[in-house]
Amino acid sequence: MFHMIDFDQIDLLAPVPNGEPMRQYYFMKLLKNWVSKREEELGRKLTYQCRTFGCQMNAKDSEKFAGMLEEMGFVSSEEDVVDIVVYNTCTVRENANQRVYGHLGNLKTLKKKHPDMMIAMCGCMMQEPDVVEKLKKSYPFIDIIFGTHNIFQFPELIQKRIEKGSMVVDIWDGTDMIVENLPSERKYKFKSGVNITYGCNNFCSYCIVPYVRGRERSRNPEDILKEIEDLAKDGVVEVMLLGQNVNSYGKTLEHPISFAELLKEVEKIDGIERIRFMTSHPKDLSPELIEVMANSKKICRHFHLPLQSGSSRVLKEMNRRYTKERYLELVENLREAMPDISLTTDIIVGFPGETEEDFQETLDVVEKARFDSAYTFIYSKRTGTPAATMENQVPEDVVKDRFNRLLKLVGQTSKEQTNRMEGMTLPVLVEEVNRQLPDYVTGRLEYNTVVHFPGDASLIGKIVNVHLTKAKGFYYMGEMEG
Ligand code: 5AD
Ligand code: SF4
Repeated sequence: MFHMIDFDQIDLLAPVPNGEPMRQYYFMKLLKNWVSKREEELGRKLTYQCRTFGCQMNAKDSEKFAGMLEEMGFVSSEEDVVDIVVYNTCTVRENANQRVYGHLGNLKTLKKKHPDMMIAMCGCMMQEPDVVEKLKKSYPFIDIIFGTHNIFQFPELIQKRIEKGSMVVDIWDGTDMIVENLPSERKYKFKSGVNITYGCNNFCSYCIVPYVRGRERSRNPEDILKEIEDLAKDGVVEVMLLGQNVNSYGKTLEHPISFAELLKEVEKIDGIERIRFMTSHPKDLSPELIEVMANSKKICRHFHLPLQSGSSRVLKEMNRRYTKERYLELVENLREAMPDISLTTDIIVGFPGETEEDFQETLDVVEKARFDSAYTFIYSKRTGTPAATMENQVPEDVVKDRFNRLLKLVGQTSKEQTNRMEGMTLPVLVEEVNRQLPDYVTGRLEYNTVVHFPGDASLIGKIVNVHLTKAKGFYYMGEMEG
């Protein structure tokens, strides 16, 4: 774990600092004392668990919560009952919300039996006023509710909850603040996400993200590069640069720099072997980025380029600002520069007003683009977005039928794409011991495809050459080469 700031520097007798992150380090130190006192009373360690929903951004935020909790002296636990549980929620589709309410039902019973268990709710769902009202009314046993703009305040909010003795709610409408140097506890030793932008300015008409994550802000390149240098020194070989729209990185900075320029700087960092990024918006994909990628030894040849729909008419309604033809042109440009590249995408079925003809256009793009894999979603109405009030919402049975047809086609094309590397020997970054076969390990090609092969835990975090003996649709079985 990073120890960005030495606790010895913090004087608990001095007034609480106003600047961040010092203010939160003050509260972390205060809570460390509280935790040790509780440990003595209870004769055991205090435990925590972060339950994360949604995307890589949330996964990264959860590593920050874990880092702060560890700094306070809590230890991670997989048990059902812990001293503090953090629900880091997602609201991109309604089923993400439903899953959280399901968990809350169980928590009610747990909390009755264990009244000291602290429950913290945060993340994107909390930025919706209706959700917070519902939680306050129907789940009054929750201890802390906070949002996406003030995650760094977590220690202060725990302290507030302890002092107040009842629910603490603190949701910000937005922020232009970026708090650096928070502690972080990584899930993997050898790979890490790195935020480069926060928020989103695109306002796709179906999407709630701009409302819950706020306006787009880029981190300073110096802060990003320093974080990656520190990660490399700490044994990280793969970084995933994270943002809602990484292609528009740097535009709002005092000294603007492009995403492609940032990538060139990351490439220079010793120890980093693989660079990934997520997510790209087709409207901002520059020829410069394709060139930097094609010339790079470290940027993985995997591009996640959300299509959403293949119909130019629907794309217009979605406010995506590209057409079917433009999307296919980008695919062609990528493949021309990097014939081996793997392409993945996101597709929504059943956007309001989508006709069978529109849907056929989507199938056509899937056939032409030859995706290695596609995440397919049924359109979910998000209150507050323009699409929620559009007429012609598509009937459920029609959407389900289209969804199944899309799944079938995606399954076929991605199988064909994956099969193309059978028989080759390629570098694999080993991630873990195989969950079903204990004598096997699981890793990834730069193309993001999963490979299973005989090996043991000593290989984790290493890049080794593996002969891809058998393509199995979405993954390979292989054998390591000396
Ligand atoms: N309904 C269905 N899918 C959605 N996505 C975003 N908003 C919605 C919605 N309202 C999908 C998009 C996006 C991915 C992260 O989630 O495909 O790329
Ligand atoms: Fe879910 Fe979007 Fe929030 Fe990620 S940014 S957690 S996908 S709502």
